Amino acid sequence: MEFKSELKNYQEIVENELKKYLRKDKCIEEVLNNSMEYSLMAGGKRLRPILVIATYKLFKNDIEKCMPYAVAIEMVHNFSLIHDDLPGIDNDDFRHGKQTNHKKFNEATAILAGDGLLNNSYIVISEDLKKSSQKDLINKLKIFNEFSLAVDRMIAGEYIDTEFEGKEISSEYLDYIHTNKTGALLKLCVRMGAILGEANINELEELSSYADKIGLAFQIKDDILSEEGDERVLGKPVGNDKKRKKCTYVSKYGLQESKEKLDKITKEAINILDNYGEKAEFLKELALYIQNRNK
Ligand code: IPE
Ligand code: IPE
Ligand code: MG
Ligand code: MG
Repeated sequence: MEFKSELKNYQEIVENELKKYLRKDKCIEEVLNNSMEYSLMAGGKRLRPILVIATYKLFKNDIEKCMPYAVAIEMVHNFSLIHDDLPGIDNDDFRHGKQTNHKKFNEATAILAGDGLLNNSYIVISEDLKKSSQKDLINKLKIFNEFSLAVDRMIAGEYIDTEFEGKEISSEYLDYIHTNKTGALLKLCVRMGAILGEANINELEELSSYADKIGLAFQIKDDILSEEGDERVLGKPVGNDKKRKKCTYVSKYGLQESKEKLDKITKEAINILDNYGEKAEFLKELALYIQNRNK
C-alpha cells in the first residue's frame, strides 16, 4: 500500500478506537468530559499511537492487543498539549486550527481536562492489565513502568523548557529539553510496540535507537515549523517560539544547521531499520514524513 493511504488507514483505526473511550453519559461533570473529548478528537496526526501499532506490526498482526497502549499514549499526549497551551506555559490560543482548550472552555476546565486525560491513560492501561493472562502480565508491567517514567520525563522537559525562556542555553540543556519533553514519549511508543511484540533485546535496542533519532528529528522539525511553517496548514501559531524567546534548535543553531541535522538523523534512523527488510518500509517512510511534514 502507498505510504499516504497506509498512514490515513492507521489514523482512521486510531480515531475509531479513541471514540470508544469517550464518556457520553449525562452527568454533572458533562462539560469536563466534553472538554476532554474536544482536545482528544481535535484532529492530531496520531503519530504516537501509529508508532505503537506500526512497531508492533514488525512482529505480530493481532493489533487489538496493542490498542489500549496506543489509546493511552494519545491521551497523555493531549494532556501535555492542553497544559502546554495554558497561559502559564506557552499561552497559545490556537491548536489544530481551533481554539485551545482553555480558550474554548476556561482555564480551570482545561487544567482539569488535562488531569483527566492523564489519569484516564492509567485507567485504560490498568483495565488491560486486569484482564491479561499471567504470561502477558510480565511484559505489560514492564510497559506500565516505562510509561510512567516517560510521562515523568515529558513533564521534566516541559519544566526546563519554561525555565529557560529568554535565557542563554547550553547545547547540553537544549538536548535535555528535546530528549525529555518530546523524545521520551516517542521512544516509549516504539518500545511499547516492540515489547508487546516480544522483540528480543537486540531488536529492542535497535528500535529504541531508531526512536531516539526520530524523536529528535520530530522536535527539530517542530522548531523549524514554528519559524517558517504556514499557520493555516499547521493549525497552530507560527512565530510564537521567537516571541516567547524559547530556546529551540533553531534559536541555537539557525535554520540551515537545523535542517542539515534533521536530514542527517532522519537518514540514520532509516538505516537502522535496514535489517528488518520490507516489513519496516512504513516506519522508514514515517521517518521521512516527520522530516518533510508541513503540519
Ligand atoms: C506537538 O506534537 C507537540 C510536540 C511534542 C512538539 P504533534 O505535532 O505530534 O501533535 P498533534 O499531531 O497535533 O497531535
Ligand atoms: C510541546 O512542545 C511539547 C509537549 C507538550 C510535551 P512545544 O510547545 O514546542 O509544542 P507546540 O509547538 O506547542 O506544539
Ligand atoms: Mg511548549
Ligand atoms: Mg507550545
